[in-house]
Amino acid sequence: MASQSLKCTPIFQLLSLSLIISLSAVAEVEGLGVNWGTAASHPLPPQKVVELLKANDIGKVKLFDADPLVLQSLSASNIHVTVGVPNSMLRSLNSSLKAAESWVHDNLTRFVSDGASRVLIDYVAVGDEPFLQSYGEQFYPFVVGAAANIQTALFKANLAEKVKVVAPCSFDAFLSESGLPSKARFRPDVNRTMIELLTFLNRHRSPFFVTISPFQSYHENKNFSLDFALFREVAHARNDSHKTYRNSFDLSYDTIISALSTAGFPQVDVVIGRIGWPTDGAPNATSSLAQEFIKGLIDHLHSRSAKSSKRQDLPTEIYILSLLDEDKRSIAAGNFERHWGVFTFDGQAKYQVDLGQGSRKLVNAQDVQYLSPKWCVVNNNKDLLNTTALASDACAAADCTAVSPGGSCFNLSWPGNISYAFNSYYQQHDQNPESCDFAGLGLITTVDPSVDGCRFFVGLRTSLSISLQNSARFCSIISPMIEGVVRDRPSLAVVNKGPDLQGQPNSLGDNSFATQTGLIRNKHEEQQNGDKNSAGSSSSDADVQAAHRCLPRQPSVLPGTLDLPSIQRVVGSDSEEISSSSGSGGLMVAAQGSEGVVRPLAVAVV
Ligand SMILES: *[C@@H]1O[C@H](CO)[C@@H](O)[C@H](O)[C@H]1NC(C)=O
Ligand SMILES: *[C@@H]1O[C@H](CO)[C@@H](O)[C@H](O)[C@H]1NC(C)=O
Ligand SMILES: *[C@@H]1O[C@H](CO)[C@@H](O)[C@H](O)[C@H]1NC(C)=O
Ligand SMILES: *[C@@H]1O[C@H](CO)[C@@H](O)[C@H](O)[C@H]1NC(C)=O
Ligand SMILES: *[C@@H]1O[C@H](CO)[C@@H](O)[C@H](O)[C@H]1NC(C)=O
Ligand SMILES: *[C@@H]1O[C@H](CO)[C@@H](O)[C@H](O)[C@H]1NC(C)=O
Ligand SMILES: *[C@@H]1O[C@H](CO)[C@@H](O)[C@H](O)[C@H]1NC(C)=O
Ligand SMILES: *[C@@H]1O[C@H](CO)[C@@H](O)[C@H](O)[C@H]1NC(C)=O
Ligand SMILES: *[C@@H]1O[C@H](CO)[C@@H](O)[C@H](O)[C@H]1NC(C)=O
Repeated sequence: MASQSLKCTPIFQLLSLSLIISLSAVAEVEGLGVNWGTAASHPLPPQKVVELLKANDIGKVKLFDADPLVLQSLSASNIHVTVGVPNSMLRSLNSSLKAAESWVHDNLTRFVSDGASRVLIDYVAVGDEPFLQSYGEQFYPFVVGAAANIQTALFKANLAEKVKVVAPCSFDAFLSESGLPSKARFRPDVNRTMIELLTFLNRHRSPFFVTISPFQSYHENKNFSLDFALFREVAHARNDSHKTYRNSFDLSYDTIISALSTAGFPQVDVVIGRIGWPTDGAPNATSSLAQEFIKGLIDHLHSRSAKSSKRQDLPTEIYILSLLDEDKRSIAAGNFERHWGVFTFDGQAKYQVDLGQGSRKLVNAQDVQYLSPKWCVVNNNKDLLNTTALASDACAAADCTAVSPGGSCFNLSWPGNISYAFNSYYQQHDQNPESCDFAGLGLITTVDPSVDGCRFFVGLRTSLSISLQNSARFCSIISPMIEGVVRDRPSLAVVNKGPDLQGQPNSLGDNSFATQTGLIRNKHEEQQNGDKNSAGSSSSDADVQAAHRCLPRQPSVLPGTLDLPSIQRVVGSDSEEISSSSGSGGLMVAAQGSEGVVRPLAVAVV
């Protein structure tokens, strides 16, 4: 009885109560949380994310690992947290209690301490959907052993009262004949382990975390209609013996409950660890349908909680997938995987739903630091025969999911989609000019190439200098590796002091102010750094361009404050002038510090 009333309290009874008596948003956030993943090349800084959570009264987050910076940013926030143990650690955590103890010591103990700065950690999620069928036996055989070792380590650290051990489970661990919940069971290959896991959870009174994905059910199974997935009134209902199902969520939820009951665990609490609707990368992955889904889900849970009091009628908690888009998520399951966010990668709400903030509009992330307003596009005036291979190299490293069929940029015709690929790569490499080379076919522009519905993004400025690690790889796939030209120089720009071409129109590939190295002029910077520095050491422009394209990277010689990513521009009226050494201006090699001032290192007269 006690746990029955507990069960009914957190999420939906309070939700409905709050509706009736117009209580503040406080009650509404009780059982609703979001997944906060950080599989992004340029993640929004954790502190900004926490501000975003607080501004929107989001009371719970589920993480996929235990990043200390993320946990620190959550300290004293009053946000309830689930930390994650990655699948890759399951094997060692299963075989070694010592490993589990040091995981708990390093990743939990100091954050859970009682001080004012404590992090409210409710759960440790051992593994991330280790039962996924596509993983085979890679991870799941270690789950229960790892969970037991973490549990023991928690007990020894005196944290077992505060923190519960869970193991998020994918929906494909369940099977049901003809899609009928009453016939649900576990997938035979994981049946035994699932029962061991449930026995473990039951013993420690921990909830069962599971994913429900009406989007994927709809996407993969032509038998489901969009109406059924989106809680629409007009949906064709389904009957299963005495029950009628009007939406995909109820059908999936009852499938889980039924399998748990059949296996002998009718009493375990169920938490929906992931549920959402993506907004790009597939047909029907749009913001308006995502909004309809999330709104439909929340309204549906309100109305169900008003009607029912039975145990397991409702999940105790629900975590929306996801808070933010992540451009490094695996797309093995589909291009939509990088677009689950209610917010874009830079923290802007894609649509309006009530995540806990009530009837207020969602608040966007504030004071987001972007790179300069520059984009990399294809240079239309070049022979574009070879761009397809270049674009697929770019897409292998960067994120081109928006140009995939059904994506928001799918309608860009060739070579607009090549430009999209180039830009994605360029932004992911912190706008490093080398990353817009593409064998001379790239062109940097200050005119936003975005067209309606298709956003050419500008990257976030981060402290992580990802370009350092990636540019060597870029060189090896696209440009020849040239060493020794400017070894000790932190970074380079090639500046051709030609006439002012500021304000030229540009779009996907107008190269009127292109240079062969794909850079553009900037009158302001040119003036700042003008002729007073014309006495630097000289080198041939072939050398400079070669070095520029494939600068050997030596992170150890970089001053700590130097902001490699946001370097320089090349100023020039005509690319041919630079490459033929007959241009009117000089070549200047420059570096830009984080304060944004271009500091010339060398000038070559041509
Ligand atoms: C998990 O660890 C235990 C204890 O070391 C070991 O006996 C067992 O074989 C391990 N499980 C797997 C699947 O390797
Ligand atoms: C703590 O968690 C982080 C992130 O998941 C992981 O890299 C690290 O190895 C963990 N610490 C220990 C001692 O396992
Ligand atoms: C599809 O739905 C129909 C009922 O609408 C059912 O009879 C059939 O078995 C379902 N097929 C699958 C593969 O779930
Ligand atoms: C799962 O395991 C239980 C207990 O071992 C057994 O009773 C049941 O028949 C199994 N179910 C399936 C579908 O294999
Ligand atoms: C489902 O059952 C209801 C009554 O319980 C019935 O009116 C309806 O026709 C049935 N629908 C289907 C598709 O069998
Ligand atoms: C969903 O996508 C399919 C194509 O897969 C399309 O035929 C249908 O019109 C789309 N529905 C909506 C509502 O966008
Ligand atoms: C295209 O690539 C091939 C092989 O990599 C190369 O031989 C050819 O010169 C390239 N064409 C152009 C126009 O760059
Ligand atoms: C793409 O173009 C087609 C036909 O012109 C149009 O129906 C569709 O809405 C467009 N899609 C997007 C995402 O703009
Ligand atoms: C760009 O569009 C062309 C033609 O529609 C297509 O063949 C090519 O694969 C696309 N490239 C990318 C990177 O999407």
